[in-house]
Amino acid sequence: MPLIKIADSNIEFVCAANDTITRAALRAGLGMPYECNVGSCGTCKVELVSGAVESAWAEAPALSERDRLKNRVLGCQSHPKGDCTIKVRIAEQYLPMHPPTQFSAHLSLMRDITHDIREFHFETTQPRAFLPGQYALLTLPGVRGQRAYSMSSVAADVGTSTWQFQIKCLPGGQGTAVLFDQLCIGDQIGIDGPFGSGYLREDSPRDVVCIAGGSGISPMLSIARAMMHSPEMTMRKLYFFYGGRALQDICGEAELRELPGFAERLFYYPSLSSPEAEWRGHVGFVHENVLTTLGRTAADFEYYFAGPPLMTQATQRLLMQSKVPLTQMHFDQFY
Ligand SMILES: Cc1cc2nc3c(=O)[nH]c(=O)nc-3n(C[C@H](O)[C@H](O)[C@H](O)COP(=O)(O)OP(=O)(O)OC[C@H]3O[C@@H](n4cnc5c(N)ncnc54)[C@H](O)[C@@H]3O)c2cc1C
Ligand code: FES
Repeated sequence: MPLIKIADSNIEFVCAANDTITRAALRAGLGMPYECNVGSCGTCKVELVSGAVESAWAEAPALSERDRLKNRVLGCQSHPKGDCTIKVRIAEQYLPMHPPTQFSAHLSLMRDITHDIREFHFETTQPRAFLPGQYALLTLPGVRGQRAYSMSSVAADVGTSTWQFQIKCLPGGQGTAVLFDQLCIGDQIGIDGPFGSGYLREDSPRDVVCIAGGSGISPMLSIARAMMHSPEMTMRKLYFFYGGRALQDICGEAELRELPGFAERLFYYPSLSSPEAEWRGHVGFVHENVLTTLGRTAADFEYYFAGPPLMTQATQRLLMQSKVPLTQMHFDQFY
């Protein structure tokens, strides 16, 4: 198997032929920088000092012409053709608590959440752990590349053999076409995970705010489920904001109502941006509802958010303007 060396250090790790440099490093327990794992963000860029790689997605949007001229490659798309030396700065913030593994799973249940969001349950043969709020990469039959989906369930420490996801159907999308129109109960897929740094920090002393737009509901439900059952967090409150366009998009409340502490220390605030006349709740984008509803200094809270890139970027901007330190914001963008 190819050996990958990190220049100017004594760090090296092996990378299997079907693996990528980024994921092989994470499997080896190294803090290799990354965010999306699907070629869109550019966080995983490394400089190729020696050796050669083959890109799984040569046209990936995160790699510019300038990068190519400087011999930079996307670690998340790079399969080494032999031994390589790379230049990259390993960082503690990317250290995987549960190093990712590849396994197969079969579809055991599907249920509609809204008109365009569906919950999928995949069963594995043995329990595997992930942190609340993390995501996995699904290999779907006939789809080029993998697709990232955040788990809506909980599986800390002892792990789980059921990985649950809430997924929004994207018109014209290849991956969601297979998930919504082709996969049948019992069908096998490949899962690789867990990944991501937008996970619940149980040791924070602050109350928690979750902000979800559209399919961002999935990781926020995982965080809410873990938090409301955590013996470490019984004194923390959770303010859960959800945003959609119209009434048919509203979701999340039924699952939150099943949790201990609903309406006592767990509160749900839906927003609609283009509501029907009968809507009596907040009108506007979800992030616009947060600070006025909380009514306290923004920096008093720990924030988790997920959803379309425009929503997560607007949320991050708002929190930064409100002097919330970056260390209190946790998210992985849905590219
Ligand atoms: C960290 C993260 C978490 C996410 N969590 C959720 C979630 O919980 N629920 C949800 O509904 N959506 C989630 N998404 C979005 C999801 O991954 C898909 O982008 C979305 O479902 C559309 O996929 P599609 O295949 O239908 O669309 P398409 O337009 O066919 O594909 C779009 C996505 O696939 C990637 N892609 C396309 N071609 C290739 C290729 N050849 N090789 C590799 N990658 C390729 C793109 O980077 C893009 O991310 C998440 C995304 C990220 C990055
Ligand atoms: S482009 Fe590789 S992690 Fe986002």
